Amino acid sequence: MPDSKSAVITSALPYANGEIHLGHIASTYLPADIFTRFLRLNGRKAYHICATDDFGTPILIKAEKEKKSPEEYVAIWNRRDHEDFSSLGISFDLFYKTSSIENVEFVQRVFKQLQENGHIYDQNVIQFYCTYDDKFLPDRYVIGKCPYCGAENQYSDLCEKCGRVPDQILDPKCAICGRPPVKKESKHYFFRLSGFSQQLKEWLSSNPHLQPEVKNYVINWINEGLQDWDITRDLSWGVPIPLDEARGKVFYGWFDNHLCYISTLVKLVKDKGGDAKKFWNESEVYHFIGKDIVYHHYLFLPAMRMGINNEYKLPDYLPTRGHLMLQNQKISKSRNWYIGLRDFTSAFNPDYLRFYIASVVTYSQDDLNFDWDAFSEKINNELIANIGNFVNRALSFTQKTFGGRVPEPANVDGALAKELANTVDEVGYLLASNQIDRALKRILKYSTYMNQYFQTNAPWANKETANTTLYMSVNAVRSLAIMLEPFIPFSAEKIWNQLKLGGSVHEQSWQSAKDAKAVSPGRELGKVEPIFRKIEAKEIEQWKNKLGKP
Ligand code: MF3
Ligand code: ZN
Repeated sequence: MPDSKSAVITSALPYANGEIHLGHIASTYLPADIFTRFLRLNGRKAYHICATDDFGTPILIKAEKEKKSPEEYVAIWNRRDHEDFSSLGISFDLFYKTSSIENVEFVQRVFKQLQENGHIYDQNVIQFYCTYDDKFLPDRYVIGKCPYCGAENQYSDLCEKCGRVPDQILDPKCAICGRPPVKKESKHYFFRLSGFSQQLKEWLSSNPHLQPEVKNYVINWINEGLQDWDITRDLSWGVPIPLDEARGKVFYGWFDNHLCYISTLVKLVKDKGGDAKKFWNESEVYHFIGKDIVYHHYLFLPAMRMGINNEYKLPDYLPTRGHLMLQNQKISKSRNWYIGLRDFTSAFNPDYLRFYIASVVTYSQDDLNFDWDAFSEKINNELIANIGNFVNRALSFTQKTFGGRVPEPANVDGALAKELANTVDEVGYLLASNQIDRALKRILKYSTYMNQYFQTNAPWANKETANTTLYMSVNAVRSLAIMLEPFIPFSAEKIWNQLKLGGSVHEQSWQSAKDAKAVSPGRELGKVEPIFRKIEAKEIEQWKNKLGKP
């Protein structure tokens, strides 16, 4: 991580058709937010951007069911998602949408360039068509029986029972009116992904930052042979294909959505008066994703960028994480085996969720688990009994014994100052390399160390050393606030305010957390009170009872 470079951080774009739940948060948004906050503390210009993914058949179907125009429907979810993210402290520099005018124009231009460069061809395909509704029926518009496992009522693009993609769905029915469709020919455009096999392989092998295990299986996919992508849908809701001969056709959602990373960043930088293309190309580019969209981000996205001559450079990092399980079972909205973000943050301090997830999220494809008992144990025993306890002990002792003023130390404890500097370096190294869980553990280790220091020095009994103990401890609290800011920003800010140091904790510099003497003797603290509230066993029982069936 070169020290001065700017950075573009993106989080996978949520579909504008449903509420953000804990699963989304764990694999993508929280890791990206923690990372961005860390870069900002390091003085780096880091922009975290996101948008709603507005197009596609499922969205159109849902809008139709709710008797709303698709524009109205996605606007509702865009606002709602943005609010939900904000409530958890996910701090986007811009949260935009794939249906923005900027994105539509950009997508159309990219298509034209790809076409000029010979990466697009057309072909007639036979598609289902409903004569009653007068519509072509792509993907989710057709329901039928899976030819592999025989499951009824499956979408034509994916059998949810066996996970396979049916080649020919049996007994097809129109999803809108239930009548059997006919087959009709339609002209479609294809992106020649197969033509990029060699280039993709070279890029994957030479990029030192990609996670090796993901890289390996993606290279395997290439070796098995890549299929070209049908990028056309005969629908009204999407980015129109900018050709006279293609009137009434739009692009497939996966053609336009990832281009929104670029168009959104361009808007942000332009609005600030900067040169957006230059900014993108001079930055480190990170796309944070969950493992279900590896194919799209390791193959399709880079190939499209190569296809326009790397006008916007390829990603440097594609941090990819596993799925969140809930009580060790797969999250499922339809079976009510899930927890909505909004419900969660209306009941708990949002930092509790951030803390718990940060402590279990590895930098790997492994699935992680949300467990209610583990959650309350972690919050009560680690966040509160370790960190909260130390902070409150140090500050309230200063309050009671020294009238709220930081005492003059006899000396600065060298061993303690060294432990602090080491902690800041190690946590910094772990965060820079995306090892969020390990970084948080290292902070907890430091907090344990400080609790022991306080306990052993027993300032209530040892009047001669009490000044030094408290001086060192108050300074450690300040350092902890800075180190904790990426993880639990709301609580870090509260700690900061109790220290009454002025400004905001997120305006501090990471390096300054190493300073064991930043809070000078004589300074007055603010109002000291406990930062956290313990989680009760009965609350956890209530939450467990709210869940449906696994
Ligand atoms: N909406 C997609 C999903 O939830 C993710 C889109 S990410 C982007 O699976 F790269 F396409 F933008
Ligand atoms: Zn129909």
